[in-house]
Amino acid sequence: MADARPFHWEYQPVVEREALRVEGGRVLRGEVRISGSKNAALKLLAAATLTGERCRFENVPEIEDVRVMVETLQHLGVVVDHPAPNVYEVASGDVDWLFVPLEAAAKMRASFILLGPLLARFGRIIISNPGGDRIGRRPVNLHVDAMHALGAEVEYRYGYYYVRAPGRLRGTRISFPHVTVMGTENAVLAAALAQGRTVIQPAAQEPEVDDLIAFLQKMGAEVERTAPDRIEVEGRRRLRGADHTVMPDRIEAGTFVVAAAVTGGEVTLSNARAAHLPVFLDVLDSVGVELSCRSDSIFVRGAPTGSRAYRAARISTAPFPGLATDLQPPTAVLLTQADGTSELEETVFEDRLEWLADLGRMGANVEIVDDHHARISGPACLRAVEVEVGDLRAGASLVLAALAAEGTSTIRGAHHVRRGYENIERKFLELGASIGRVEEGTARTAG
Ligand code: EPZ
Repeated sequence: MADARPFHWEYQPVVEREALRVEGGRVLRGEVRISGSKNAALKLLAAATLTGERCRFENVPEIEDVRVMVETLQHLGVVVDHPAPNVYEVASGDVDWLFVPLEAAAKMRASFILLGPLLARFGRIIISNPGGDRIGRRPVNLHVDAMHALGAEVEYRYGYYYVRAPGRLRGTRISFPHVTVMGTENAVLAAALAQGRTVIQPAAQEPEVDDLIAFLQKMGAEVERTAPDRIEVEGRRRLRGADHTVMPDRIEAGTFVVAAAVTGGEVTLSNARAAHLPVFLDVLDSVGVELSCRSDSIFVRGAPTGSRAYRAARISTAPFPGLATDLQPPTAVLLTQADGTSELEETVFEDRLEWLADLGRMGANVEIVDDHHARISGPACLRAVEVEVGDLRAGASLVLAALAAEGTSTIRGAHHVRRGYENIERKFLELGASIGRVEEGTARTAG
């Protein structure tokens, strides 16, 4: 194992039996600073393994998924230091084990983003097929196809991919059958050290992909988005260490926009880029939420609860620049307060509407038509509930519904929420919400 300095983890380990208790009806007011993006930070940490030189990242969110990624890197023998809150330094000189275990993949699908960089740098990797989570099957066939296209040999045995690149990966054309965010990212990361040119099309257009490209360019990689849905890479033999500040989390920003809207509050989101939320903010504007946006802040004024001021909408999720599938759950909570019947279409994942049943238990008028379509009629008066969450975005959205509901809700499985939202209770408390973390068995709540 490389001389990994002791990793000082200020982060409070997640208590599996954690619950959040939310007393609804409070109007949120004030300012909230949006944290660094989970879905950018995880890929940036993985990209650092493309070089043996030190890389430094700022504005990394202190969340469970980052802790899991750091732990996975350390198990590989990568040195990861945490010199200050939200700051991580990565140096992957000599990696001991090119093995990403089931435990990492089971905890976090994003561990699969290690495939591209480790294969490109070291020529071989054994990596667990990541478990899906509660929003669909979540296969990784497109990632594997991309590695094949770059010249890798892949065997699949007992849940693990055994991937080798005899010699160096070779640049090629990678044509995905449909857009895949992490598939695009794995292909870019592998191509960065391949011999020759790689053209990826259609390439995902999510802002997190462009944040990764910006970091790779600082490392000396020749990576460029040459058309909205095309990325071209001229492989290099070696890349250098670089520093990077993680972009803001646009999904967290959307979550807090809805929190203000459904509590009739007035909230300013700082470190929030409206340009990353084009369709989402258009939808909220059409619903009747008052918004004013600057380059890196968003002001939201919600309509008083029960005022029937919000209008129903028809929404359909899509890859960027469409409405982010991760914002479908928060938007659904808003639509329970809209006057009329809204139509939801979820085009990205096959069962990301299931969670609406819990919203129905809170009094929302929800009809799940099929795996991809639902209707929500409003406005509905939401009532408190005790509920178990199974995935990150649905969990956060049930917190939003609880903030708008009458009474006190208990949301079990809150560790799912803390996987992806930094200090979410503290942020809501500072906006005037009544919310606390409750460990089952003790009545402790967050101060
Ligand atoms: C990323 O997942 C995000 N996760 C997801 O956020 C996000 O919902 C998703 O992109 C879409 O924007 C991270 O970045 C860590 P995809 P990813 O490949 O890359 C299918 C969150 O809560 N597919 O774009 O895994 C897939 O099943 C998470 O932060 C294949 O069929 O999503 C889906 O139907 C949830 N084969 C569609 O493509 C593959 O090999 C798009 O998925 C890969 C994907």
